[in-house]
Amino acid sequence: MPMSSIVELKNLSKSYALASTEVSVLRQLDLSVQQQERVAIIGPSGSGKTTLLLILTGLDTATEGHISIGGESLLGMSGDDRADLRRERIGIVFQSFHLIPSLTARENVALPLEIAGLSNSRQRAMNMLEKVGLSDRHNHYPSQLSGGEQQRVAIARALIHEPELIVADEPTGNLDEQTGDLIMQLLFDLNRDSGTTLLLVTHDTELAARCDRTLKLQDGRLHSLDSSDKATR
Ligand SMILES: Nc1ncnc2c1ncn2[C@@H]1O[C@H](COP(=O)(O)OP(=O)(O)OP(=O)(O)O)[C@@H](O)[C@H]1O
Ligand SMILES: [Mg+2]
Repeated sequence: MPMSSIVELKNLSKSYALASTEVSVLRQLDLSVQQQERVAIIGPSGSGKTTLLLILTGLDTATEGHISIGGESLLGMSGDDRADLRRERIGIVFQSFHLIPSLTARENVALPLEIAGLSNSRQRAMNMLEKVGLSDRHNHYPSQLSGGEQQRVAIARALIHEPELIVADEPTGNLDEQTGDLIMQLLFDLNRDSGTTLLLVTHDTELAARCDRTLKLQDGRLHSLDSSDKATR
């Protein structure tokens, strides 16, 4: 395995047993992402994009196959160890935000730093909220924020610990065009300035075009799209 590979999936399969039938979602899928790469994953609704992200971040388990993140195999890792790996190395932006209702926006964003026992968490959380355009909402609780604002708080929280890998599921899905652009610029700036690897699930063809490559999830596997496919998609 090359040293610079941050995500390695080999022969990954996932199926769900439902009543008497088995639903096969991922079928012997392979994926290798190099450090600092920007990869877009597209595919129709129900093709398994979220499932793939859940498995590669260790939030769900595969039926079969190998997964390693930064050279660490997730197989046989305990749930606690997988949580540590996520906390240390991965920033995750999912479709549901899971903000803590009893904490303000700033406190939600600061939480990963507090858990890690890092100093200066308050100021760093404020800086990050400013970057997602929410400094004037730092004292609001999640219930006092719009859906798009909650999404931006979740994004700020995912980025606050400067992860080396960002995994995002439709990060701009709930946002207007201008706010979506702000968030995408933030992600691409992190890639350029800190070498953060980006793995983005998106329906946004413009966003996919800004990535180094686009992979389409279809029939349980990833297929690379060349630029002519991209243009006519
Ligand atoms: N816990 C589960 N039990 C059974 N089937 C499931 C479960 N979770 C997901 N599936 C099925 O797996 C398939 C893939 O779901 P997934 O959420 O990964 O799709 P997706 O590509 O993210 O779709 P979307 O673009 O709509 O978000 C779907 O057909 C879904 O019904
Ligand atoms: Mg999904």
